[in-house]
Amino acid sequence: MEDRSPVLVVHGGGAGSISLERKERVRQGIIRAATVGYNILKEKGSAVDAVEGAVVVLENDPEFNAGCGSVLNVNGEVEMDASIMNGKDLSTGAVSAVRSIANPIKLARLVMEKTPHCFLTDQGAAKFAASMGIPEIPGEQLITERSKKHLEKEKLEKGVKKPDCQKNLGTVGAVAFDCAGNVAYATSTGGLVNKMAGRVGDSPCVGSGGYADNLIGAISTTGHGESILKVNLARLTLFHVQQGKTLEEAAGLSLDYMKSRVKGVGGVILVSKTGDWAVKWSSEAMPWAAAKDRKLHFGIEVDEMTTIDLP
Ligand code: GLY
Ligand code: GLY
Repeated sequence: MEDRSPVLVVHGGGAGSISLERKERVRQGIIRAATVGYNILKEKGSAVDAVEGAVVVLENDPEFNAGCGSVLNVNGEVEMDASIMNGKDLSTGAVSAVRSIANPIKLARLVMEKTPHCFLTDQGAAKFAASMGIPEIPGEQLITERSKKHLEKEKLEKGVKKPDCQKNLGTVGAVAFDCAGNVAYATSTGGLVNKMAGRVGDSPCVGSGGYADNLIGAISTTGHGESILKVNLARLTLFHVQQGKTLEEAAGLSLDYMKSRVKGVGGVILVSKTGDWAVKWSSEAMPWAAAKDRKLHFGIEVDEMTTIDLP
């Protein structure tokens, strides 16, 4: 079969207002991740390889709420969630409440490929990581000055009602369509600042944090985890695609539903089974980038899109 034109889309979480200085770092990070993922696809890598590769870049970037840079829970600790899915056979892997590894998305992929299960949590996930040779790192290595300040501020403002989008910044994710026509998604997060220990969000839950099916497309979500879980935002959006809506329409319908039904805001990135793509959010902003046909499009705020040529 003839090769298709590959597509890679990434997001760096929904967000409230971002300072100008930070915005530039976020923009560079998102461009780097999209470029790494797209290069994997151009070299005939699989959609799964590409979404994992892109998300690893974002987990390693302290600007984002995943891996190093994850937000802190009420005890000042990092607990991370991640999931990945292969649209070819619907295989999926997820981990939650993992603490001392650099790249939860790599562990999620190992759960998908090396265990008979879909989802491992906490101690079991940690033991599995060790058995796969993933190095344990000191938890402090994942903690940044920004995440410490963020927790302090949150504790001081406890009781002050804030929009969801300001509590949860910078979950990361990717979707891909590869040269063979396969789709995949990956999502990774430190979750919600000041969350209870053991709180699990939407990101590791297939159908909420993402979904991928070659017969429909792939999606990764970001936003207020409890709201996303309640409406199964990822699968709900793909349901609308299955019903014949365009990606844009489907994303609009499911984000509107989440807002009206549970007052939740968030964002989604999508690829279709034919390699179309879309990004949409109901939070104030969402850093995103999409690579296709050797062009890279990116933006953060509503109505902002820049396009550059890729080598
Ligand atoms: N609404 C933000 C996030 O998930 O990052
Ligand atoms: N959307 C990420 C979280 O709420 O954990």
